[in-house]
Amino acid sequence: MPITKNITFSYQEYKGPEELETEDRELVNAAKESAGMAYAPYSGFMVGAAIRLESGRIVHGSNVENAAFPSGICAERTAIAWAVSNFPHDKPVAIAITATTAAGLPAESVSPCGNCRQVIAEEESRTGKQIRIILAGKSGIHVIDGIGLLLPLQFSGESLRADHP
Ligand code: THU
Repeated sequence: MPITKNITFSYQEYKGPEELETEDRELVNAAKESAGMAYAPYSGFMVGAAIRLESGRIVHGSNVENAAFPSGICAERTAIAWAVSNFPHDKPVAIAITATTAAGLPAESVSPCGNCRQVIAEEESRTGKQIRIILAGKSGIHVIDGIGLLLPLQFSGESLRADHP
């Protein structure tokens, strides 16, 4: 008989940025600013991601699309690639993500795509530090404590080990 296992998923919901702690509000504002700098001529969906590093420094990125669609990159991965290549020893502790729609209006909270979840997971395992994920949408803000909740049973460097069970 198989055993049914359950994964529970809890996260926090805030009505708006005014309910956030100052540091998180600042990160959401940086993500919004970054969304304004997105290069998204094909989808019109402009995404911004801002990462707070352990030192307090904020780095950000936006989606950069391409006429050859798969060559485009999401905001989260732009920001992570920038953080890792410029500040490899300063560990990310939080990432805020936000977007505006093709009509130029604030979008509902954007949850990172599968590729970005995998990259955030790698970053958590590279640094050994959980990353707080702040999804800021027009009707509310969702805060998730670590990528494990968005990517349970994840594939990782551990999975590559030949002696992995
Ligand atoms: N996009 C992101 O930047 N982050 C996400 O988490 C979801 C999607 C971008 C990719 C593409 O440029 C546009 O949004 C529409 O999918």
